[in-house]
Amino acid sequence: MLFDVRPKEDRKDLYDRDKEVDEIKESIDRKVWIAVYGMRRVGKTSVVNVAVNESRYIVIKLNLMRIYDPKKKKYPKTSFVSLFLESINEAVKKYTLGGRLIRFVSNVLGIDENSFIDFNLVKIRPRLKKFRGEDVSSTIRELDLLAGDNKRTLVLIFDEAQELMKVNGINFSSVFHDIYDYCKNTTVIFTGSSVGILENMLKDLEYEKPFFGRFIRRIKIERFNEQLSRDFLLKGFAEEGVTVQEDVINDALRRFDGIPGWLTFFGSEYSFRIRHGEKQVNVDDIEKMTVEEVRKEVKDFILGTQSPERYSAAILALDRLGGKGSAADVTKVVSSILGNVPEPRIYEILNRLVNMGFIEKENEEYSLPKDEPDRKGLVLAAKDVMSLVT
Ligand SMILES: Nc1ncnc2c1ncn2[C@@H]1O[C@H](COP(=O)(O)OP(=O)(O)OP(=O)(O)O)[C@@H](O)[C@H]1O
Ligand SMILES: [Mg+2]
Repeated sequence: MLFDVRPKEDRKDLYDRDKEVDEIKESIDRKVWIAVYGMRRVGKTSVVNVAVNESRYIVIKLNLMRIYDPKKKKYPKTSFVSLFLESINEAVKKYTLGGRLIRFVSNVLGIDENSFIDFNLVKIRPRLKKFRGEDVSSTIRELDLLAGDNKRTLVLIFDEAQELMKVNGINFSSVFHDIYDYCKNTTVIFTGSSVGILENMLKDLEYEKPFFGRFIRRIKIERFNEQLSRDFLLKGFAEEGVTVQEDVINDALRRFDGIPGWLTFFGSEYSFRIRHGEKQVNVDDIEKMTVEEVRKEVKDFILGTQSPERYSAAILALDRLGGKGSAADVTKVVSSILGNVPEPRIYEILNRLVNMGFIEKENEEYSLPKDEPDRKGLVLAAKDVMSLVT
């Protein structure tokens, strides 16, 4: 179903994106590493899921959102190791991989093989500290061998890969170089919404020991244009068996600005309400739900920064400037709110917001997002924080 709000897994549920899916498959088959970029809710996870849904691949998926915490600057090594082992365990079950891999992991942990197979947390948790970066590399080498023996390709997915840089105690540069040098049946896929931060991470990985000219292919997922958005909504509603007036569709297109995640949420919620007897669905209500989601997300982020007040003031300044302005414009407005703040500081804050994908930047001009959920959610979060800290 097109309006299923979870990330898609099956080709038939994914609208459009043939080109991106093909590019990813071809890269995997040629063992070219990939970084999949795009703004929040544009469909990165779905596109990658669908592309790797093939029996010729063995897929290990690390969803780093599971360790994400905006309040933490660093994550302990054990959070990552736990996620890693859980993903390995899932793969062991899904692909019935056994033998050496299980023996190796349980050996390093110092537990019996059944405890790892059953993923017995009581036994595993106290041992997580023993698992080092080198052991992560060795586990992947074992998987690579298994994949080779089975004439398959190992695909390692790091979803929201920028979070790796916050993990203490594991040298990922060295882990990835090891994979690159020794794992000939393996392809790595990085995805991330924080475009700038993901790019910085890739640079960091290449910095210590360059990837010898190896090209990590960048694949950008764009939002839908108006025509695709309209067609997506029409097909989705047809699938749901729900009739929708054209002005409702036009209204949704204006509010959600081609962002697949919002269009999907809108379609799903609208259909649900019609099916449950609402005659006149209030689209404002549905939009409010999306605004609240962004509001909470941004608020958590701002409160986790060094200067919540300045971040909030910068966002409010952009709003007062009619949604866009230069760093100098924003600095003037911020200074009128908080007293003098140096422009380089505001410049830094604005770029961080761009890196996080919360605002946009074009030719030294910063702007609030055009879709209602992101724009309103951002501004409300800034207001919330202002009222908390002042
Ligand atoms: N091409 C598409 N066809 C159908 N549904 C889609 C498509 N792209 C995204 N979606 C839907 O949009 C929502 C967001 O998709 P997904 O989680 O894949 O995006 P993402 O870019 O990984 O988001 P996030 O930034 O939250 O990680 C989900 O509900 C998903 O089902
Ligand atoms: Mg995602």
